[in-house]
Amino acid sequence: MSQPAERMLMVDPVWSALRSDAAAIAAQEPALASLVHATILTHDRLEGALSYHLAKKLHSEDASAMLLRELFEDQFLNSPQIGEAVRADLSAVVERDPAARGHVQPFLFFKGFHALQAYRLANRLWRRQRQTMALFLQNKISEVFGVDIHPAAQIGRGVMIDHGTGVVIGETAIVEDDVSMLHGVTLGGTGKETGDRHPKVRKGVLIGAGAKLLGNIEVGAYSRVGAGSVVLAPVPPHCTVAGVPAKVVGCAGCDDPARQMDQMIDVVEPDYVI
Ligand SMILES: CC(C)(COP(=O)(O)OP(=O)(O)OC[C@H]1O[C@@H](n2cnc3c(N)ncnc32)[C@H](O)[C@@H]1OP(=O)(O)O)[C@@H](O)C(=O)NCCC(=O)NCCS
Repeated sequence: MSQPAERMLMVDPVWSALRSDAAAIAAQEPALASLVHATILTHDRLEGALSYHLAKKLHSEDASAMLLRELFEDQFLNSPQIGEAVRADLSAVVERDPAARGHVQPFLFFKGFHALQAYRLANRLWRRQRQTMALFLQNKISEVFGVDIHPAAQIGRGVMIDHGTGVVIGETAIVEDDVSMLHGVTLGGTGKETGDRHPKVRKGVLIGAGAKLLGNIEVGAYSRVGAGSVVLAPVPPHCTVAGVPAKVVGCAGCDDPARQMDQMIDVVEPDYVI
C-alpha cells in the first residue's frame, strides 16, 4: 500500500474498518475473494471503492461502467461532504441493522445503502444544473435497486434505508439526519398540492415498513411511524403514530428511536390524536 493510503487508514476509521473486514472475508470465503479485492482492497479510498461498485451495478448500454465511475469520482472529488455522508450512512447501517455483521456486508450487498449513495451523487448533479443526468441516474437507481428517490429531495446524514425495495421519496421531501426507514416507505404528495408538496421528516425519526406519508406535513424529531400507516397530518416530536389514517398511539418510547430501532408502543391517553 502507498504511504498516502496508509495515512488515510489512520484518519478514516470507517474505511479502515471496511478494509480490515474485507481482508478477513477474503481469507474466510475464497470464492468471494476476487470480488472483495476488486471492490475494496485494491482501492486507496472509500470514495474510489464506492465509485467502482456503484458504476458496476448501474452501468448499461447507455452509460458504460467507466463513464459512470469517472462521473462518480468527479462528484466525490469536488464535494467532500458526500464522502462524509457516505461514512455516516455506512456507520448507521452497521450500528442499527441487526442483519449487518461488520462493514463489508452492507457495503457490498445492501441495496438500500447503494440506492442512497447513488442518490447522493445524483443530488449533486441536480444542484450543479445537470438535471437530465441526475434524472437518468434516478431512473437507473430505481430499475436496479427498486428505490425511487427524486434527485432534488434533501436527505441528511446517518440515514438508513433498510431493504430499500419500494421506497419512494418525492422531489420536495426533506429527510433530516439520523432517520431510519424500512422498505415500502413513501414520502409522497397527496395529489392535491403543487410546488412544495412532500413531507418534512425531522431528525431521528423511525418510519416502519410500508408507511405512506402524504403531503407537505412535518414529522417531528425522534417520532415513530408504525408499519403500514397512512400519515396525512403533522406528527408531534417524540410521538408514535400508527393506523390508516395515522393517529398518535403513544410516545416514542426512547430518546432516539431511529438509532435504537425501538419498536415497542408506549400507550398514552386515547384522546391525544393528530
Ligand atoms: C384519498 C386522497 C385522494 C384524498 O382524497 P380527499 O377526498 O381529498 O380526502 P381528504 O384529504 O379531504 O380527506 C377526507 C377523509 O379521508 C381520509 N383520507 C384521505 N386519504 C386517505 C387515505 N389515503 N387513506 C385513508 N384515509 C384517507 C382523511 O383523513 C379524511 O378523514 P376525516 O374526514 O375523518 O378527517 C389522498 O389522500 C390520497 O390518498 N392520494 C393519493 C396520493 C398518493 O398515492 N401519493 C403518492 C405519490 S408518490
